[in-house]
Parts: sequence; C-alpha cells; structure tokens
Amino acid sequence: MVGDGGIDPWSSDGETDYNRIVNQFGLEKVDPTLLPNPGMLHRRGIVFAHRDLDVAVRCIRDKAPLGVLTGLMPSGRMHLGHSMVIEQVKWFQEQGADVTVAVADLEALATRGTSLSEGRKTAIEEYVLNYAALGLDPSKSNVYFQSTRPEVQRLGFTLGRRTNLSEFESIYGFSGETNLAHVQAPLVQVGDIVHPQMDEFGGLRPIVVPVGIDQDPHLRLTRDIVGKTHWFNIKQRKSGGLTVSLSVQSDNSAIFGVGSGGRVNRETRDEIFSMISESIRSLGFADFSINPKHGIMEIPGATNADKSQIRIKLLELERSLGGLGFMPPCSTYHRFASGMTGGKMSSSKPETTIFMNDSIEIMAKKVKRAISGGKSTVEEHRREGGDCTKDISFQYLQFFFEPDDSAISEIRKDYESGRMLAGEMKQLCVHKAGEWLTDLAEKREMWKDRLDEFLASDSM
Ligand code: TRP
Repeated sequence: MVGDGGIDPWSSDGETDYNRIVNQFGLEKVDPTLLPNPGMLHRRGIVFAHRDLDVAVRCIRDKAPLGVLTGLMPSGRMHLGHSMVIEQVKWFQEQGADVTVAVADLEALATRGTSLSEGRKTAIEEYVLNYAALGLDPSKSNVYFQSTRPEVQRLGFTLGRRTNLSEFESIYGFSGETNLAHVQAPLVQVGDIVHPQMDEFGGLRPIVVPVGIDQDPHLRLTRDIVGKTHWFNIKQRKSGGLTVSLSVQSDNSAIFGVGSGGRVNRETRDEIFSMISESIRSLGFADFSINPKHGIMEIPGATNADKSQIRIKLLELERSLGGLGFMPPCSTYHRFASGMTGGKMSSSKPETTIFMNDSIEIMAKKVKRAISGGKSTVEEHRREGGDCTKDISFQYLQFFFEPDDSAISEIRKDYESGRMLAGEMKQLCVHKAGEWLTDLAEKREMWKDRLDEFLASDSM
C-alpha cells in the first residue's frame, strides 16, 4: 500500500532519496551544532531531518517540561534497526524529557493478526527488556498498551472527526478493500502521539516523536488534525510580527460570542480578547492591536521564535475555556541502516540484520557474508582503497558499534587509503559488535526480573 510520495508506513524500502523526502514533505534539516550535547546519531548525520525540533530544544535549554513518545510493534524479534529510535529516546531522556512508550498491540492485531496476549508477551519480553538493556531509565519511562488505555482510543475517535476517508486514501493508499481495523490503526496512533499532553498524563507540553522516515505520514496526519482543533491560530505577518486569530468552530462559537444568526456579541468578544491579551502579556509583550469584530489581534513585536511560547499560552487558555489544547507533535527522522545483504533490514529475513540476542557466532557469520566495499584483489584495494559508502561493516560501526567519532574517522581514512583491507574491516566490526552484544546480554540478565518498573499503572 503506497500513498503520496511512495512512503508506506507498513513497508518501507531501503533505497530512499532523503533529500527528495526533506523537500517533498517540508521537513527541516537537522543542524547538530544547534543541539545541546548532540548525540552520536546527530553528529553523524544519521538523524537528518525534523519538524519543530527547535521547540523541543528550547524546552531542554529552558528546563521546561518536554515529553518524548515512541511506539513499538509487538511482533517479531528486536533488531538493530529498532535500536536507533531507542538511542534517540535515550538522548532526549538524558536531556530531561519524560518518556512514554506505546505498545501498538491494536495496530499489530489490525495489520499482522497478532493476538493481544501474544503482543503483550513479545512487547515485554523482547522489546521492553532490550530497551532496559540499552539504557532507558525506568524512573522516567512509562510503557502502556494501546488496548488498555481508553483515553488513547477515545482521542482517536474525537480527533477522527477531523479527517475523512479521502484523506486516508491519499496519505496511506487505502482503498475499498482495506480492512477497517487497518483504517482505525492510524487514528489510534494519533491518540498515542497526542495523549501524553492530557492532564492525567503529564499535561500540556511539547511532545517529540523520534521515528524512521516511514512513520512521517502519521506525524503529518497528527499535526494536520491537531491544527484543525486549535481555537486560536497564529500566523506570521508579512510586515513582521504575529497575528492571532480566532478559529470559530461549533464547540466554541458561543464562547467566542457568535450568536445563532452569526451576529457577534461584542461584550463576550471583548472579554475573550482581554483574556488573550492577558495571557500574552504574561510573556512580556505589551504592544497589541486588537480588532474584536474580525477576531484578530496583531502583536507587531513578536517574531517566529516567539511562536511556540505564544502557542503554549493560547493552548492553556483554550483548555481553560473547554477546548482540547494540544501542541502539534515535534519529530525527528533517522536514516535507515542498510540490510546486510543489500536492500532493507527485515525481521523476516534474519540474514539482513543482527538481532539483539543473536549469538556472537551467528553475528560473525552474518558480518562475514555482508556486502563489502573492498576491491576484488588485494593489489587493487591497496591501490584504490575501499568504499565506505558500500561497506556494511563500516556502516554498522558508524551507526551502532563505535561511539568514538575520532575512531570512526581513523577507520574511514585507513580504509579509503587502502591501508585497511575489507577482511580487516569485517574483523573490526565483528569485534566491536561482539562487545556490544555481550554487554547487552549482561544488561538483559540484570533487568529481566525488573521490567515492571517500566510499566505504567494501567499496564500491570
Ligand atoms: N506504527 C508504528 C510502527 O509500525 C508503531 C507505533 C504506534 C508508533 N504508535 C506509535 C510509533 C506512536 C511512533 C509513535 O512501528
């Protein structure tokens, strides 16, 4: 199933043109120099794009509340590809964010026929166990199940009113034959992404969702829907400054002073604008011009950089008046590591990836068979050097196993100059991957009886 742009969240391919994606979907490129303590994946350009990451970064700098949300499909075994999102989640957690993990057991049921009880077992014993081993901190992590968190499902319904079948056809490539559970799954995911902002799950705050690029359709859908629920719109003015305007909808028209005949009640309208001014004044702005009749307020001194602060204030106001008051989610996107035999990694083709609990022997065998960037003879290799862009062992060192940037650049230099041979590169990868897997196995052993610490109270 492929919607617009050829990205399908249920089957993504390995050969992706990342620049095209950035342009086509209006993503921003990640600039690691703008991040506090950039992580390995940021420094190496592996986390390459984002939406509104600056909003999350601002929370980190200001020590303001920030949430990070991720979701897992509880089917199959966890492999290297899955670990990249956790690396990112961990980074946000280290910068002070709280972590919510959605077990997509309803989605797995809908799209893969995984029963809920099977999904639960896989989620805990395979995924949560490895998340713990990878270093997520249980005191700041909450794992929940889609099937047992009614607020998420309720939100799916509430927000589902803001989209329709045609939009689903164009985003996801759904057609008349698509089973309806599959159609519901994206709405549940919208609920996953948005619900940590509810008062009972941590309250209004930006939520950042690190994902592979294949999940972007869900983020676009969520941002689009959330935007439609806003009672106040904020736009940049051509002449500088920002404009706040009322978005009159059936659930707020009385509150906004719109009578049944469309007549504007001046007193109610004035009251709304005095509330708006007051909340924006609390940020230090004093210069406004208000046109209550047209439902518009100009803030000439505000810039785009003030937008998220103003947004949060207005969402607080929206909530106090009875609206939903949700921020659009922020997101980051990582590149996919190539499959070991070319093409993409896939749980159903074990030779394409390394599983978190592969034995050293199995891992070594996979690395030996993996695609290499070496030349066909030693002489040629010494003369022309190896190709890091094709070499899986190099790529995996860079993506997963070698945290030291200077070691990576040494390895690259040695390989490209021909000093290091393809076999030596594989040896190095086997060695580093071996240490990595051994460490992970030890940590799994440490955590295996403590996984309850990661579960939210509605997941016990
Ligand atoms: N659809 C995701 C997957 O296929 C799983 C998922 C469910 C998810 N809810 C989410 C991912 C929320 C990120 C955020 O893996």
